[in-house]
Order: sequence, then C-alpha cells, then structure tokens
Amino acid sequence: YVEIDDREKQPHSEQRIWEDARMATAQWNFGARDAKQRLQEKGKVHDYDLLLDDTIDFVQTNQLAGTKGIEDQPEVSDIQKKKMSLQETRKSLPIFPFREDLLQAVEEHQILIVEGETGSGKTTQIPQYLYEAGYCKDGKKVGCTQPRRVAAMSVAARVAQEMGKKLGNEVGYSIRFEDCTSERTVIKYMTDGMLLREFLSEPDLQSYSVMIIDEAHERTLHTDILFGLIKDIARFRPDLKLLISSATLDAEKFSDFFDEAPIFRIPGRRFPVEIFYTKAPEADYIDACVVTILQIHVTQDAGDILVFLTGQEEIETALESLTERTRRLGTRIKELLILPIYANLPSDMQAKIFEPTPPGARKCILATNIAETSLTIDNIIFVIDPGFCKQNSYNARTGMESLVVVPISKASANQRAGRAGRVAAGKCFRLYTAWAYKHELEENTVPEIQRVNLGNVVLLLKSLGINDLIHFDFLDPPPHETLALALEQLYALGALNHMGELTKLGRRMAEFPVDPMMAKMLLASEKYKCSEEIVTIAAMLSVNSAVFYRPKDKAIHADTARKNFFSPGGDHFTLLNVYNQWVDTDFSTQWCFENFIQHRSMRRARDVREQLVGLVERVEIDMVSNKDDLVAIGKAVTAGFFYNTSRLSKTGGYKTVKHNQTVLIHPNSSMFEELPRWLIYHELVFTTKEYMRQVIQIENSWLLEVAPHYYKAKDLEDTTTRKMPKNKGKSRAELGDH
Ligand code: CDP
Ligand code: MG
Repeated sequence: YVEIDDREKQPHSEQRIWEDARMATAQWNFGARDAKQRLQEKGKVHDYDLLLDDTIDFVQTNQLAGTKGIEDQPEVSDIQKKKMSLQETRKSLPIFPFREDLLQAVEEHQILIVEGETGSGKTTQIPQYLYEAGYCKDGKKVGCTQPRRVAAMSVAARVAQEMGKKLGNEVGYSIRFEDCTSERTVIKYMTDGMLLREFLSEPDLQSYSVMIIDEAHERTLHTDILFGLIKDIARFRPDLKLLISSATLDAEKFSDFFDEAPIFRIPGRRFPVEIFYTKAPEADYIDACVVTILQIHVTQDAGDILVFLTGQEEIETALESLTERTRRLGTRIKELLILPIYANLPSDMQAKIFEPTPPGARKCILATNIAETSLTIDNIIFVIDPGFCKQNSYNARTGMESLVVVPISKASANQRAGRAGRVAAGKCFRLYTAWAYKHELEENTVPEIQRVNLGNVVLLLKSLGINDLIHFDFLDPPPHETLALALEQLYALGALNHMGELTKLGRRMAEFPVDPMMAKMLLASEKYKCSEEIVTIAAMLSVNSAVFYRPKDKAIHADTARKNFFSPGGDHFTLLNVYNQWVDTDFSTQWCFENFIQHRSMRRARDVREQLVGLVERVEIDMVSNKDDLVAIGKAVTAGFFYNTSRLSKTGGYKTVKHNQTVLIHPNSSMFEELPRWLIYHELVFTTKEYMRQVIQIENSWLLEVAPHYYKAKDLEDTTTRKMPKNKGKSRAELGDH
C-alpha cells in the first residue's frame, strides 16, 4: 500500500517521462521517433535517449482472427487464474467441457485424431482423463510421445503436480539417456525417438493400453516413422487405442492416412492478434529483438513477451545485451524478468518460465521453436518473431548434413503469432516486412523425413525386421536418394551386408540410441582395446558445443583456459583431457568455474557416459583403458566416422574426400593452426562458411584398414606432397576391397 500511495502523491518526473512516451507511441506504428522528437521539445530526452536511440518502425497490416470462443465457458482472466487451485485450472481449460465426449469417442474408435489449438489441454489433460476413466488397469500404461525432450520433461512434471504425485512414480518420462519412470508408472511421456526404441524390446507395445502420438503436426522424423509402425500394430492389437493429436489443420491428412479415422475437434479459445511488420528488412535481428522488447516494455500495457530465436547461442547473446541495457536503465523502467528456454537448459531453470509474473513486473521469454506449439506459457500478450529457425538440412548427393538457420514457413509464423492471443487480444511483431511474409515464406515446413540423414531410422527399421523400406507406409515418403544413401552408409559401416540385410555388427549397433557412426565407433573400441576412452569421447561429443564457456567480458581468459586443454591429435583428445581432469578433481564445480567449463554440460556428459557404459557392457564389451595409445583411439574414431574424412588441399583449405567439398577447420579447434594432412570431423556447421567442428588427425592408411568397403587406395592419394601413399601398389584384394 505504502508504495502505491507514495507514487500517487509525488508523481516524479521519471515516471512521467514514460507516461508521455507511452501516450505518444500508443498509436502503434511505433512512432517512437516522433515521441522522441516531442520529448526533445519538452527537454526531456535524456533518459529516453538511452532506449529509443535506435527504434524500429512497424506497420500494422492485418490481424490474425480469433476463433470463436466457447460460449458457455467464461473467460478466465489472468488474475483469477493465479488464485485458482490446480484442479480449478484444469477445469478452465478448453478441453474440459469435452471430457466425456472425448472418452466416449476413444471408447468407440480404435484410432482417433484429436485437433485443438495449442494450450487447450491436449497434452496435459488427455492422459489424465484416460487414467481416470480406467485405461490404466491391469498394469497397462498410457503413453504419450513428444517431439522434444524439454516438453516431455516439463509436461510430465506438470501432470505429476496436477495429480499430486511425485514425478517418476505414477507419472514419468523417458528421454534419451534419462529414464524417469518406475514400476508404478501409468502415465508415461517420452520422446518420439524413445518410443521408436521401445519397439525393439516390445514390438507390440504390449504394456500400453493407449498410445498418444502428440504434436503430430510437427512431423519430426521419428513421429513420421511411428505413424507407419503404429498403424501396423493397430491391426493385430485391437485392444490398443491410438490417439494422434495435432495443433493445426493437418487433421484431414492424418485421418486419410489412418484409414479415415474420425477427427475430434476441440474448439479453440483464441483472441485476435494484431500483426505488425517492419517497414524495412532488419539487418541484425537479434539487436532488433532487443530494441523491440524494450519498446514494448516501456510503451505497452501489462502482458508478457515471448521472443522466438533459433538456438541457445542466439538466446544467450540477446540475454546478455538485454540485461546490459536494462541494467543501464535501472529503476527508470519497471522490472523486466528475462527468462531463456531451450533444450539444454537445466530443468530447474526451465521451470521458471511457468512461474507467475510478480505484480508490476513483466516477463520476457527468450525461446527456441519449442514455444511454438510444444510448450504453452500463459499470459503471453506480445510475440516477437524474427522469422527464422534452425533446421537440419541434408544434401543427399554429398551426404553432408548441417544445421542451418532458415526462414520459417507461413504456418509457423501464424502459430507463433497465435501464442499472443491465448488469454487476451495480443500483438505480434514480425521483424520482417509484409512483403517478405507474402512472397518469401513457404506455406508449410517441409517434414523432417524429407530433409535429414536417415541412417539411424533405417538401422532401427531393419532391426525391427522391416526390410522393404521402399514400400514402408510413409505419410510422406523420403526422397529416394536419401534412402539409398542411408543404405549405402550402413553398408559401408558394415551394418548391412551386400543383400541389404542386417549383419551381426548392425544388430549390435542398433542397441545404441546414437547415430550409426557413433555406434560403430563405440563397437570398434573393442578391437582397439580403448573402450574407456571412446566412451568418454562419445559422451563429450554429445554435449560438445556446450563444454566451454566464453563470457564476452572475459573472452581472453576463457580462450587461454580452453587452449590449456588442447591435446596433441585433435579436439577429441582435448575433450577426453577435459573430462579426465574433471574426474581427477572429483567432479569439482569450482574447477569447472575456474577453467571456464560449463559444469552442467559436464554433469550431463557424466550421465551420458554412465548410460553408454551400461550399453557397452550389454553388448559384452569389456571396459578397458588404453589412454596413451593415441593411434588405437584414433583408429576407433576412424572406424566410425571415416565417412567424414577431409584432406588438406594445395591451397591450404580442406576438401572432403568423397565429394571434394571445400570445408574449413572451426576457429575454436585445437587443430586450427596445425593443419594436418588428414582429418576426420565430427560435424559440419555452416555459418558463413562450411566449418568442421571437433576434428581429429588421422593417417590415410587407417581408412583402408577400417573401411575397406568404402575407400580405395586411389581415393587416398596425398595431394599435398604427391608422395606415394603407403598403400599404393598393394592390390585391391590385399586392401580388403570386395
Ligand atoms: O497440449 P496443449 O497445447 O493442448 O495444451 P497443454 O500443454 O496441455 O497445456 C494446458 C495448460 O497447462 C496450459 O495453460 C499450460 O500453460 C499449462 N502448463 C503448465 O502450466 N506447465 C507445463 N509444464 C505445461 C503446461
Ligand atoms: Mg501439447
């Protein structure tokens, strides 16, 4: 009370400045420049300057229509909601009035397509309804797949809370390298990839009474494969109920695929969203985001902001810049809580985005695509959409796979905008022009199956006994070349024989929930007697981009610290070195801090390592150490990743061996200044150029030793010296060429 009264009594000048600014810019078009001018005239520009030095001009051209609300369902305002108990909140969700009808429909039909606006309660409520209706009797479970790890974890936590149970007991989740379920689990959330793996041990999904394939519209590779498998199972398990749940208008397509399964539509409760576009394209969209956030914060009424960025790095950059600018503004602006959300964020931090915003403050969530449909954050009124996302892209001709930032589709843009209209009328600021929206964005996102390497799933399908992949029941088939290349790679790795059948090695490889190359490397550690080291390298590679920490203000120190870990032979050895030193400090947090290493990533690497050790032992490989034998370790890596070989070219760059593609060593690599003749890279990242990230030095002769199906001596002539490679002159038969 005191606070409010005080402010009322003495309306101090700073407060007034913002009031003025708000009035001036209330007419969107974000006429911030006008506002600034007006304030300048009044001699009040000083504080305002900091903020609106560079502003972005937006124009409003259209509006995303709200769908008709549910008539007899009163709107639940934000404030009411906070006071509601969890059970009341459950009842306030759009899906609630349809509970009985939905259960009835499930009863009557084996396969049901459920369509409903994001946030209507599909993911959190349907499994509970089914549980309450008795679908979990006789030890059977209700399963629900999620394309994203974070969503599986966070939704499971929410449902456990709603049911008043401890997470991991009745309600659990299962994601790669982490199983948080128990004997008692009856509602199980899992990533779609994990369900695929469950087919290996339980091909008829016997332990489930209902399986929900959620977020079907996302069309991830794993979800697409699940469609085919599950459709097949439904035929010989008439007691298994299947729900395909989707946020958007793909329901028709799903229904067609599942033999005309009925569609259950949950009417949305959506408010209109005004759409604003920039007048001109933005050169630096991260900066444009930061400016727009501040513009909204000082000129707009209450309501939280959701910003879509493409990944962790961008989020951290924006976070830093925003924190810095709000710090400079100090108490002149209201409190702005800046919260990141991305896949690698630890779960306690993830939970923060769901906490209610304190009175008087504003929440600003910097999210990846995950907030597009997988996670619903309440009270978002403003959405900022730069129009990009990170996507896998795959060149089936060269076999090169990379993560690239690409423009989103119109469907995505509209989903994003829709996030602003869930609790009240909202606004969406698109950091691109209306023209770009109309002419440059594709209608829909291409399903993942048509743009990624299929090695993994082909191996899995082969181990499920599905040999004829060409005739597999795909919702949308992958391109022929991609399928062919996956088969070719698996053949080169020795996972398939010349008939295309799974080999013993292939069967063992399929035991590992990792990329086939990684699986092969793990298995090769048996021959080279270095399983301890290879398991560590595999674990570290799986968190690799997040091991070293590089704060901008201490960049030099961080770089020095990183260089201290450099080990001869390449980045794989550097990662091994980091891990082993951490083990020697007894997993010290302090040590990580002092060495600019992300403790969280290390903990995750330790968890992954533990899981891998279990898997390695399951395929009966002994854990043995051979840490001084760099050749043995190098050969084991080569046995898995020989596909990713590049050689130094005469010009000092690198060329991939098979496709002669130009690639460069990533500047962060320990090999950056070394330029060895032959390299194997762990992955390619494309920024301005095609960079190899995590490289290891090899000898070309190793390639013939570990991949005789794949390399011929003539492929491996050394172009830098023109010296005779060691193997030249040997016959193909000697090289194991067949
Ligand atoms: O799946 P759908 O998009 O239809 O909705 P949902 O994820 O089941 O979300 C229903 C409600 O639960 C929303 O109001 C969410 O904000 C809330 N929720 C939450 O508070 N915490 C979570 N971890 C997940 C959902
Ligand atoms: Mg959902």
